[in-house]
Amino acid sequence: MRTAIILAAGQGTRMKSAMPKVMHRIAGRPMIRHLIAACEPVFDRVIVVVGPGMPELEKAVAPHATVVQAERLGTGHAARMAAPPLEGFSGDAAVLYGDNPLITTATLERLVAARGQADLALLAMRPADPAKYGRVVQGPDGAVERIVEWADASEAERAIGLCNAGVVCAAWKDLSRWLAALRNDNRQSEFYLTDVVAAVHAEGRRAVAVEAPEAELRGINSRIELAAAEAEVQARLREAAMLGGATLVQPESVTLSFDTKLGQDVVVEPHVVFAPGVTIENDVAIRAFSHLEQCVVRRGAIIGPYARLRPGTEVGEGAHVGNFVELKAAHLGAGAKANHLTYLGDATIGAGAKIGAGTITCNYDGVNKHRTEIGAGAFIGSDTALVAPVRVGARAITAAGSVVTEDVPDDALAIARGRQVNKPGRGAKGKK
Ligand code: UD1
Ligand code: MG
Repeated sequence: MRTAIILAAGQGTRMKSAMPKVMHRIAGRPMIRHLIAACEPVFDRVIVVVGPGMPELEKAVAPHATVVQAERLGTGHAARMAAPPLEGFSGDAAVLYGDNPLITTATLERLVAARGQADLALLAMRPADPAKYGRVVQGPDGAVERIVEWADASEAERAIGLCNAGVVCAAWKDLSRWLAALRNDNRQSEFYLTDVVAAVHAEGRRAVAVEAPEAELRGINSRIELAAAEAEVQARLREAAMLGGATLVQPESVTLSFDTKLGQDVVVEPHVVFAPGVTIENDVAIRAFSHLEQCVVRRGAIIGPYARLRPGTEVGEGAHVGNFVELKAAHLGAGAKANHLTYLGDATIGAGAKIGAGTITCNYDGVNKHRTEIGAGAFIGSDTALVAPVRVGARAITAAGSVVTEDVPDDALAIARGRQVNKPGRGAKGKK
């Protein structure tokens, strides 16, 4: 059995935010959920240490357990908060930082494997700029003797390139004992988690460092670092999408979410945004400048350019959604076409229906939302306003410019507009 203890009690003052730091989103979900997702395949249990008054964080990590660190007395003190729920636990525990969300499952696998060969394993990196990271001090045999925080380090220690990433793994029986013995007699008067390493060494036992790339172990303390983490996650998601058989014409201009599903031979043109909850089946083309959220696009459909698919939308097989078309909670049947300047909200559109330019479903009466149904093979003339609730029958036609307030039977033609009157000569009159 293995447990992950994730520290997330800090507010993250450098973010300058009313929201706890780990709630800031990367690729459409809170950063802590990225870390939890990396942990889940490796650890049987996850416990998150939160600060007081962070109900949104507790909700975001559910169903995983949380414990509250009432006072922020350091990373070692925060890790101690997991002691009551882990009473009598005989497996391994790892401590991770919630603001380190880019760690991969593969690296965590290496960490727990290394722990099998030593009493404690930790993750370390060699950043291009070691800045203020804690430094990993190794003995002649490569074993880690201690970690020294930047604030407490000598010039010689600051010259060490190997930096602490902030993840340790050991038997909980040992780790809890080392945590209980921590002292706060340092520059910052904090209980440092990192001091457990010196305790391992003092007991004549062995601690080892597992190195991983900086891109994975970098922490997030500011919005600038948040943007860098977003770039890293986007790069990974784009790579996975392309390896999965999707073409991204200009990958760096496409924004994906953690859960975006792109089928085989999907082609995504530049500047497309996939908000969370999007599934694109095989052979779909998503043309430039489209925005999609919580929707399904079936095989062979064409979306965009400049299309907006909002939550609850399903675009059927081979259907077309063109420029400046917005769909909200709309089901577009197979082969249906809505190609220009249209809003379809709370609507069901049958297979093969054609929706003319400028069609609007008037789905909201100021108080309630109502549904529009358009039958299979119907033809909605340009600039039709469909005042919901309303139904247009199968194969029916609405004349251009109609305001349709009553149901149209199957196969009927509905004309609902003022009749044109021509007044001879009146155009020229008074022009001189
Ligand atoms: C820590 C490490 C440092 C390492 C760096 C890597 C310590 C003492 N230092 O420094 O060696 O190089 O991370 O990013 O561990 N937290 C709590 N309660 C607390 C204090 C912190 O939950 O009382 C949480 C924070 O919310 C954060 C994490 O622990 O998620 C790390 O704390 P932070 O203050 O960022 O530590 P660093 O100074 O970055
Ligand atoms: Mg930090």
